Amino acid sequence: MSKLINCILNKDPSCTPVWFMRQAGRYLPEFKKIRSENQDFIKLCLNSDLSSEITLQPLKRFNLDAAIIFSDILMIPYGLGQEVKFEKNKGPILSEFNQKIFLKNDKNNFIKRLKPVYEAIRKTRKKLDKNKSLISFVGAPWTLAVYMLGLKKNKNEIDLNKLKEKESELKLIIPKLNEYLCTHLENQINAGADTVQIFDSWAGLIPNKNLHDYCYIPNKKIVEFCKEKKTPVICFPRGINKNYLPFAEIVKPDCLNLDYEIDPFWAKINLKSFCLQGGMNPMILLKSEKEIFNEVDRYLTIFKGVPYIFNLGHGLLPETNPNILNKVIERVNNFK
Ligand code: CP3
Repeated sequence: MSKLINCILNKDPSCTPVWFMRQAGRYLPEFKKIRSENQDFIKLCLNSDLSSEITLQPLKRFNLDAAIIFSDILMIPYGLGQEVKFEKNKGPILSEFNQKIFLKNDKNNFIKRLKPVYEAIRKTRKKLDKNKSLISFVGAPWTLAVYMLGLKKNKNEIDLNKLKEKESELKLIIPKLNEYLCTHLENQINAGADTVQIFDSWAGLIPNKNLHDYCYIPNKKIVEFCKEKKTPVICFPRGINKNYLPFAEIVKPDCLNLDYEIDPFWAKINLKSFCLQGGMNPMILLKSEKEIFNEVDRYLTIFKGVPYIFNLGHGLLPETNPNILNKVIERVNNFK
C-alpha cells in the first residue's frame, strides 16, 4: 500500500505523504521545453508518451509520494465534442456550447477520444515505484460547466444574468457530466490510477442557494462511484469557506483538500473525522526560505497527530523556483 493510501484509508497519522497540485507543469524547465515544441495543448495531452514523460518529470527531481497524470479537466468538454483551445496568457477558450452535439454523444465515442489518457496512465504505472500513488482526476460538473457555458464575467466572478439564462442547460448537463465523469474515472482506474481527486475549482462562485444542487450532490455522486470502485477519493471544493463542513458531511469524501482561505485550526477542529490535505498558500513558495519553512512548520504543527497529506491550497504557481520544493519535502519528512 502506498504511503498516500495508507494515510487516506487507514488514517495513519504517523507519516505525512507529500505531493503538489500542478506539480507537472509550467514552473519546470523540462516541461517548458516540451511545451515549446508542442503548441497544441490538447494534442500534447493526447500524446501518451509525452504525457507520461511529463507526469514523471517532477518525480525524477523530487521525493514525492504520488504522481498526478498530466492531462486537464477540460479534456472532458473536448471528449464531448466541444472545441477547446489554450492561448498564451489568456486561459482556455471554448467554442460555443451546442446542446445538440452534446446530447448526441455516446460513451463509446467519448472513451475512444480520450483513450490516450488511459494509455498514458498504463505507461506511467509501469514506470512508477510500487510505493508511489498514481492520481487521476476530474473537474466537478459545476466547474466544467463554468467553462463549457462561459458563465464567468471576469476572472473571479460569475455572470449572474448568464447563470439565469443558462439555468435549464446547466440542469441538463450536470447529470450528463456526472455520467461521463464516472466513465472517465472508471477507465483511468482500470488503467492503473489508484487515487482520485475531484477539482471543484469554482465552487466558491456558486450562489449559496444553489450549493446543494450544483456542488454537493454532483460531488457526492462521483464520490459514491469511487467508493464502489474501492478507490480513495479526495475532494477540493475551492472557495466555499465554512461550507466545507456541510460539504464534508453530505459528500463524505475519503479526504478533503483545504484551500488557502480556510483557517487550518478551524479545519482541524471542525473536519475532525476526515483525512485532510493541503491548505498552504502557493504564493508563500515565492518568499524567502525562512518564511516558507515557518509556514510549512505551521501547517505541520497544527496537523500533527491527525491524518494529513502535505500539499497546497491551490496549484503551484509558474513563478515557483523548483529548487525550493526539495527543501520543503525534506522539511516535511524530517518534521518531528
Ligand atoms: O497537477 C498536475 O500537474 C497535472 C496536470 C493538470 C493540469 N491542469 C495541466 C495544465 C491538472 C490536475 C489540471 C487541472 C485543472 N485545469 C484545473 C483544476 C485545478 C485548478 O488549478 O483549479 C483547472 C481549473 C484547469 C483548467 C485550465 N487548464 C486552465 C484555467 C488553464 C490555463 C491556465 C493555467 O492554470 O495553467 C489550463 C492549462 C494547463 N493545464 C496547463 C497545464 C500544465 C498550462 C498549459 C500551458 O503551458 O499553457
